[in-house]
Amino acid sequence: MRYELHLNPATGPLPALPTGAPPGDAGPGAFHRSLPGYRCTPLRDSPELARLLGVRAVLVKDEATRLGLPSFKILGASWATVTAVLRHWIAQPVTPLTLDRVAAAIPRPRTRRLVAATDGNHGRGVARMARLLGVAATILVPAGTAGARTDAIADEGAEVVVVDGSYDDAIAASAALAGPDTLVVSDTSWPGYELIPAAVVAGYATLFAEIDADIAGRGLPAPTVVALQAGVGAFAAAGIRHFRAPDRPGPPPRTVVVEPTGANCLMASARAGRLAEVPGPHRSTMAGLNCGLPSVLAWPTVRAGADVFLAVDDDAAHRAMTELADAGVVAGESGAAGLAGLLAVARTGDPGDRTRTGLAPDACVLVVNTEGATDPVNYRRVVGHAPAPLDDTPAGVA
Ligand SMILES: Cc1ncc(COP(=O)(O)O)c(C=O)c1O
Repeated sequence: MRYELHLNPATGPLPALPTGAPPGDAGPGAFHRSLPGYRCTPLRDSPELARLLGVRAVLVKDEATRLGLPSFKILGASWATVTAVLRHWIAQPVTPLTLDRVAAAIPRPRTRRLVAATDGNHGRGVARMARLLGVAATILVPAGTAGARTDAIADEGAEVVVVDGSYDDAIAASAALAGPDTLVVSDTSWPGYELIPAAVVAGYATLFAEIDADIAGRGLPAPTVVALQAGVGAFAAAGIRHFRAPDRPGPPPRTVVVEPTGANCLMASARAGRLAEVPGPHRSTMAGLNCGLPSVLAWPTVRAGADVFLAVDDDAAHRAMTELADAGVVAGESGAAGLAGLLAVARTGDPGDRTRTGLAPDACVLVVNTEGATDPVNYRRVVGHAPAPLDDTPAGVA
């Protein structure tokens, strides 16, 4: 279980993000509540994991099932989709902003299409949104994407195109498909394409708001350390913006950004002091994190707000999947990555690295299990048994 650690010397005030939010008061939280099957995901208090990390408490926000899909990504995909659709296809305001009203307001839905590139979860979310809105979807995946992941996207009714190349190649191919009736809903950004990825970041805020409400309602300790796994950095940016919001009381928790070794483009950028690419092939089983290039939009927030960058190998992610399974949480490879980083430091790190990551005996650690067993074949190989049936325990119950 090897890890690399980089302490960020450049923390500071967070930059502003562009907002493509629809006019009016509607925010992602209210819109998410209009989606079929919306419920808060559980926040689990795990004494077993706290013992392993040598801290006072570990809270696991469990996104193994979210809006009927096995990952948190639908939160960003849905809000970004609705933002793009309102901007490009619907002339009049839609109030209240609900899924049904947006679907009903799209002119000529049969001629419209959503496009996304993905290493699994984001594209599945966009495909689900296309189905709910009654439009078509084309989802591009890099070569080598696990069959279970492409099948799941196709099951949403989307056309799946396998791009002969990496995730970053799939992104470039998706961008080229944009047109008046074809909207690209990307969770990463590039120069000139920032509003939709900003809506993805805004959409992820729902899960962090749920965490705050759960902590307050159950009298749980506030996190002093937050681990955020990263691919292009949109999820990490959302967490950092939540926990380092200027109007948030008290000192912010330590934020630890965790990436796979070999696809650690945010760590490389932090070291370089500018956006840096980590060229492929990216072969980690943490498929959702296999990104060679940070999101142009997310990077300034991550640079300003991440205290520590960690890179971990697949062995660390697999150990964390097993520990989470023992604690009753079904976590896929990318889902377990945040915990994997902290476990690697707790098990093999020196006391200095423990301090750098905030792993003090009285610490309260928050990790987010960002996906369930999205590759059940690898899950069984790693954990030794099939994923447990998903527990739909409502939030508020440990
Ligand atoms: C399960 C999971 N966790 C975390 C991430 C990281 O998100 P981001 O690419 O915004 O850094 C992804 C990205 O696809 C993912 O699928």
